[in-house]
Amino acid sequence: MCGIISYKGPQNCYPILLNGLKRLEYRGYDSAGIVSLYNNQLLQNKRVGKVQVLEKEILSSIKINSNIGIAHTRWATHGKPSNENAHPHLDNLEDIAIVHNGIIENYSSLKDFLLKKGFSFKSETDTEVIVQLISYFINSKNLDYVDAIYAALELVEGAFAIVILNKNFPDMLIGARKSSPLLLGIGKSEFFFSSDASAIIEHTNQIVYLEDHEMCIINGDTYEITDFRTRESLEKIVDTVHLEIEDIEKGTFDYFMHKEIHDQQRTIINTISGRIDNEHVLLNGLFPFWDNIVNSSKAYITACGTSWHSALIGKIFIERFAKIPIIVDYASEFRYNDSPIDSSTCVIAISQSGETADTLAAIKKSKELGATTVGICNVPGSSISRETHCGVFTRCGSEIGVASTKAFTAQIIILYLLALKLAQSKNSLSKKEIVQCLDFSSLSEKISKVLIKEKNIKEVALKYCNSSDFLYLGRGINFPIALEGALKLKEISYIHAEGYPAAEMKHGPIALVDKNMPTVFLVSKDKSYDKILSNIEEVKSRNGKIIAITDSDDEKLSKLCNDIILVPQSNEFVFGILSTIVLQLFAFFIAVEKGCDVDQPRNLAKSVTVE
Ligand code: AGP
Repeated sequence: MCGIISYKGPQNCYPILLNGLKRLEYRGYDSAGIVSLYNNQLLQNKRVGKVQVLEKEILSSIKINSNIGIAHTRWATHGKPSNENAHPHLDNLEDIAIVHNGIIENYSSLKDFLLKKGFSFKSETDTEVIVQLISYFINSKNLDYVDAIYAALELVEGAFAIVILNKNFPDMLIGARKSSPLLLGIGKSEFFFSSDASAIIEHTNQIVYLEDHEMCIINGDTYEITDFRTRESLEKIVDTVHLEIEDIEKGTFDYFMHKEIHDQQRTIINTISGRIDNEHVLLNGLFPFWDNIVNSSKAYITACGTSWHSALIGKIFIERFAKIPIIVDYASEFRYNDSPIDSSTCVIAISQSGETADTLAAIKKSKELGATTVGICNVPGSSISRETHCGVFTRCGSEIGVASTKAFTAQIIILYLLALKLAQSKNSLSKKEIVQCLDFSSLSEKISKVLIKEKNIKEVALKYCNSSDFLYLGRGINFPIALEGALKLKEISYIHAEGYPAAEMKHGPIALVDKNMPTVFLVSKDKSYDKILSNIEEVKSRNGKIIAITDSDDEKLSKLCNDIILVPQSNEFVFGILSTIVLQLFAFFIAVEKGCDVDQPRNLAKSVTVE
């Protein structure tokens, strides 16, 4: 969702801000803008569309040099994507500029109030009320600048990360957050505000993560962080962020998604390494709360989107290995429902970004009710990783493509390890069984065998790129994988696709099957093999087109299917990972063929920081 990058220091802010905006593109946006301080005036450039459009406009104008500026990529919530609605927004006097990520829930009543006081509005956004409100407190209530911001923040309700620039205070940049991410980057006599570290990592790895209700006042060469409710100063730790530039660049690939699919051969090793010691699973981040987790009387896993699909796989393995019943719930539902949570409950939250608003709210609610919360996140320093009592990082590196790929395989590996660790503590599996389950020795090699076949996967994918609907079917863990495969196709190619448990097809979806409808079957050579063959027969006898992803070279299967994508023979879990990679590539090649914006699909945001 919206991205913020701001700079104050000795360098020209424009190259820094434009590069930062490009780094934030992956979050999803529809317009972009920059305001800097130039010749004692606020200089504004805003454009609907890609950052490149804004860049072209800026580079074609007179050579601008400014040492302070704020910039933003907007993902429309209030008001359509347009130049007027793009951020930054200015107050009527054009003294103050603001960028904002989040939603101001009471903006309408604040706007009515300001309209009555004679303010006029240029945009349809909720953001503009904040900057006008600050101006109101300065000019009508004679508050000084910082007090005016405090007063405005007392009135606004909702979620926000904001950065404010005031032409009358050319040495100051002020940022604040509540329920939306914002961090301060500290360089050599220079400061940055950013929504995430990737936008500033070329300049500094020294980061202060702002927490809810914190405000940071940069003034000259110093900064102060306060609680904007009490206005008291706070002591904060400066973290060193470890982020590799190669991780946030495409390298030799044309698309981040393609690179990230290929990354999996390596990232799965990062996810596993140091976490297995002979027959022992080490998830050290959970250690301080392990007794609570093992002895909890109820356990939930909550997440959104792809991470929710991982949760379904986690449930299967935790129930199977550790015999602990698990309830999986969408975070957007869980946060408002009446699940009986108390101090004997464990709530596991899964999130790649660690910033998903619904998942964060689900954790906060669980904590309030006394539960032990566990985070499975990819981004160190993210809100969810800090808000949960304990957790495990998926360690798959930055994921820039909006469609999640390597984060999914990393999440399911962590959940699988967690299931085995729980089984160890519960004595529900023998040592021998655990050692067998922990054998990942050939996983990376098998992934490489799948990746080598991508030409073949592409050929199959292109045969079906004109289909308008797909079914994805699987049993056991292949059902969540089918859901994930269908989601991948939907989000990047805009083709309608649905995932079902294979046997559930008879209860409705089979009505859709005809000669135009391709069905993707996940067929692992396990105990459900014969049953899934019967499901394939059912589709075949209705003239449906069948694509099977399988580790079986059985002739009977190949006769039934129009296309087969063969992966190396594996156990059920490894088959899940391999078929996931096939489905990611399948969706990718269709989307590229259709000319879709694979890395930044329409309407989607990488990190969904609003409800
Ligand atoms: C995945 O391809 C999606 N773009 C989306 O469903 C995503 O998984 C969801 O928004 C949750 O994000 P999170 O893992 O960062 O919390």
